[in-house]
Amino acid sequence: MPTTDTAPTPGTAPDPLVELDRIVKSFSVKVGLRRARVSAVDQVTLVVPEGATLGIVGESGCGKSTLARVVLGLHTLDNGQISFDGQALAKRRRPRRIVEQMQMVFQDPYSALNPRASVGESIAFPLRVQGVGKQEVRQRVAKVLEDVGLHPNYGGYYPHQLSGGQRQRVNIARALALQPRLIVLDEAVSALDKSIQAQILNLLKDLQAEYNLTYVFISHDLNVVEYMSDQVAVMYLGQVVELCPAEDLYRQPLHPYSQALLASIPVLDPGRRSSDEAGLRGEMPSPLNPPSGCRFRTRCAFAMDVCAQQTPVLTRADDEHMVGCHLYAHGSPEPNHGG
Ligand SMILES: Nc1ncnc2c1ncn2[C@@H]1O[C@H](COP(=O)(O)OP(=O)(O)O)[C@@H](O)[C@H]1O
Ligand SMILES: [Mg+2]
Repeated sequence: MPTTDTAPTPGTAPDPLVELDRIVKSFSVKVGLRRARVSAVDQVTLVVPEGATLGIVGESGCGKSTLARVVLGLHTLDNGQISFDGQALAKRRRPRRIVEQMQMVFQDPYSALNPRASVGESIAFPLRVQGVGKQEVRQRVAKVLEDVGLHPNYGGYYPHQLSGGQRQRVNIARALALQPRLIVLDEAVSALDKSIQAQILNLLKDLQAEYNLTYVFISHDLNVVEYMSDQVAVMYLGQVVELCPAEDLYRQPLHPYSQALLASIPVLDPGRRSSDEAGLRGEMPSPLNPPSGCRFRTRCAFAMDVCAQQTPVLTRADDEHMVGCHLYAHGSPEPNHGG
């Protein structure tokens, strides 16, 4: 087992590429005859160092995709600040130079590709828009196909002629073609078979090493996030409840929600803590009307009076481990079975 004594020596830590400062995003939705607001992302603060992978994990509906889209500028923020490479971004208009440095790979590799365009045309399109010359487009398409493990001949194929794994390779190639620094991967391998998943994850790791790419890696699958990430943020109902190095989360999750999530993965690891008590109880509350105080308290085995009254803030439990839970403000937790 490696020790935690791996803090980088001062001066060698990579600069942050992406900084999110108290990001807030809600949506107006119709509920019966009235309009209400869905709180999709609430007060999220995260930093992604250049060349690193930040994993984001949490149940469906917790705000992962909304956060991804906010980072990419596909949703405007209600509040908060996003910085890229040290530059604070305006709420609405972003310089093209910045837009091109951020790319996204989605879950469904089929719908992301135009069925009537060949692979080569799909990859070339954003390059042409950028004004890259014909000759160079051809070279770059061939190079990125090779980078993702496809023979340049695949440039002439159409999406329906490819397997799911090949289509996702094409999507990655398309993201790479613009030579981005950040790639946001939103459930990018979730639709693939396990064996294909592993190939794509390893490809992503190789590409990251080769091009010093920075990843925001989103998945509801904890095993996949653990494999890919340096740091992991656990989200619940729009908020980050725990943030720490990936190995710490899996070895010692602190937030009751993270503990419950981990307890609910079916792994054949007798060393991993698992109990019914730690499992997830009940349904996720509606984001239209999130619980007061701690949003997780309605499902938490450790809930106390203070949890309904005060929103816990993300605080440092130790050197690199942040948790937003009242239990850690007053020593170690004791389950409260009285309700
Ligand atoms: N365009 C939208 N309009 C209204 N509500 C939305 C929209 N996008 C997301 N939401 C809501 O925001 C919450 C977070 O959704 P999402 O970011 O897709 O979560 P995740 O990706 O973690 O499954 C959900 O309650 C979802 O219904
Ligand atoms: Mg999503």
